[in-house]
Amino acid sequence: MKILSGTSNLKLSKDISKQLKLKLINTNIKRFADGEIYIEINENIRGNSVFVIQSTSTPANDNIMELLLCIDALRRSSAKNITAVIPYFGYARQDRKVAPRTSISAKVVSNLITNAGANRIVTVDLHAGQIQGFFDIPVDNLFTTPLFARYIKKKFKTNNNLVCVSPDVGGVQRTRGLATKIKADLAIIDKRRPEPGKSEVMNIIGDVKGKHCIIVDDIIDSGGTIINAVDALKKEGAKDVYVFITHAVLSGQAVEKIKKSQIKKLIITDTIENTSKIKNNSKIEVISIAPLMAEAINRISNSTSVSDLFN
Ligand code: R5P
Repeated sequence: MKILSGTSNLKLSKDISKQLKLKLINTNIKRFADGEIYIEINENIRGNSVFVIQSTSTPANDNIMELLLCIDALRRSSAKNITAVIPYFGYARQDRKVAPRTSISAKVVSNLITNAGANRIVTVDLHAGQIQGFFDIPVDNLFTTPLFARYIKKKFKTNNNLVCVSPDVGGVQRTRGLATKIKADLAIIDKRRPEPGKSEVMNIIGDVKGKHCIIVDDIIDSGGTIINAVDALKKEGAKDVYVFITHAVLSGQAVEKIKKSQIKKLIITDTIENTSKIKNNSKIEVISIAPLMAEAINRISNSTSVSDLFN
């Protein structure tokens, strides 16, 4: 087994390879003056099972292209099989036609990755589970629920006053999973998107008065969804609001907005590299996904169960 890292999240790749006690494959990833990408693998990988780690976070198009070229270089170097490890799978929010003449970008990206030569995908908290079906190769979708549950159990001694809140109807399954694990109540926010990038809270379903609210979501992008949800919960009498997010996209002024918000604490993972963006921000805490990803890679490599990781 060998690990190759793209450039989108080198820190995470190093942390994963450290856990696996492996060195990253020696590569040369450069940009030509016009922005085109050049990939060269500087060691023999013939007959190896190679895991290529690359989040397709911003700049999404460059990072996708880099992933495709890495897979192509591995295929042309006679790797035995290639697993694309995509901690954050971008373009996942466009997983269906939302209007008559729109594209389904998640499907386009899935086709590109498969056609480049990947034999398997490993990812984390896919925005929609059905994206697995966009691939005709195996997809292992890892969940962060156990990591978040462990954090919550450590932080709150009792589950008496805890309620897990889904920030929209689409996130109910994920939130119910966490609520079941920590034996907490469930509440749901009825969110409306009048236009892309804007969100409005219509109603809160469930009792949040005087409770520690735990919002869980897959993505925080502009921060609008979460900040509106937190404001609505506080207005409804919530004691405090903790937010757990897998993929911290944090675009535009999101970090500043979070700083000024009523969020008690934002807990994110490192599927996206954000070290400099969140530096000196005591409201934001990072839980590393590296041990979970390393264990999943190990199990895939040894052909043992990945789902057992979550039991
Ligand atoms: C939407 O379905 C996702 O789960 C997130 O709630 C959304 O992408 C967050 O976006 P923003 O932070 O820009 O409101």
